[in-house]
Amino acid sequence: MGVSLRLNRVVLGDALEILRTLPDDSFDVGVTSPPYNKGERDKGWLVDKVVYRGASDSKDEEEYQKEQIAVLNELYRVIKPGGAFFYNHKLRWKRGVLLHPYSWISKTLWTVRQEIIWNRKIAANIRGWRFWQVDERIYWLYKPKNGNLIGEELASRHALLTSVWEIPPEREVPHPAPFPLELPVRCIFSVMDEHKGIVIDPYAGSGTTLVAAKLLDMDFLGIEISPNYVHYAQERLAKCEEERGRALEEMARHRVEKTFKERKERGGWVGRHRKT
Ligand SMILES: C[S@@+](CC[C@H](N)C(=O)[O-])C[C@H]1O[C@@H](n2cnc3c(N)ncnc32)[C@H](O)[C@@H]1O
Repeated sequence: MGVSLRLNRVVLGDALEILRTLPDDSFDVGVTSPPYNKGERDKGWLVDKVVYRGASDSKDEEEYQKEQIAVLNELYRVIKPGGAFFYNHKLRWKRGVLLHPYSWISKTLWTVRQEIIWNRKIAANIRGWRFWQVDERIYWLYKPKNGNLIGEELASRHALLTSVWEIPPEREVPHPAPFPLELPVRCIFSVMDEHKGIVIDPYAGSGTTLVAAKLLDMDFLGIEISPNYVHYAQERLAKCEEERGRALEEMARHRVEKTFKERKERGGWVGRHRKT
């Protein structure tokens, strides 16, 4: 039996199974942070703090990447042509070997529109094998429309934000790995601007993407495997007005002081080296 497209709720279940039941070309934009396959059993006390209730985050890496490819391809099917999906992940190492998210993203149907650096500025760390890793990545994925791989331009107020997002991690929400509300607000507001649409998050967790969607006056659908987080996300959605101030602060950062053209006309810095 398929899940009909009843919106504005969180469906309890496995992301891939539920996605397979959704109709084609239904959503305008999505944002997610999947489980990272951290292998909670072999990594010591730090990872213990990021254990999800109701789901293991320890899979064979090949199986994990295959599943992520399948989920991303289902998302491609359910997003409308011209639509976008923001996929948050990070660089990991297993026994010294770099595991880069692009290695499986590049095997999906999506066109990668941009790789955004999320500079969290701080992250848990106890060992010095590498420089302190405070960055994560956000892949802006695009579903081409009528064979056009480039898509629409962003409005200037969004495009003038840089490709390095300095947003501190979330501290208020009682979930092991929530992203801050500013992150999905930035993603959704940038591509939708004043348009209304439907938002999806297949690993909804504490419901941050869904709260952002609701505050931006969008319809939404979340999927989450843990009944505890489904319950928490629903409660959070019911009182999301309490979070409107943070969403408005993020939206206020999307502004034009000078367009690229105006900078150039007024002799401002546009990034080119000039002879003085
Ligand atoms: C990184 S967290 C997402 C956090 C979310 N962005 C937030 O702000 O709260 C990943 C979530 O995926 C859920 N999860 C793990 N495996 C899943 C699966 N197969 N299907 C759906 N959800 C799953 C976990 O329970 C966890 O809440």
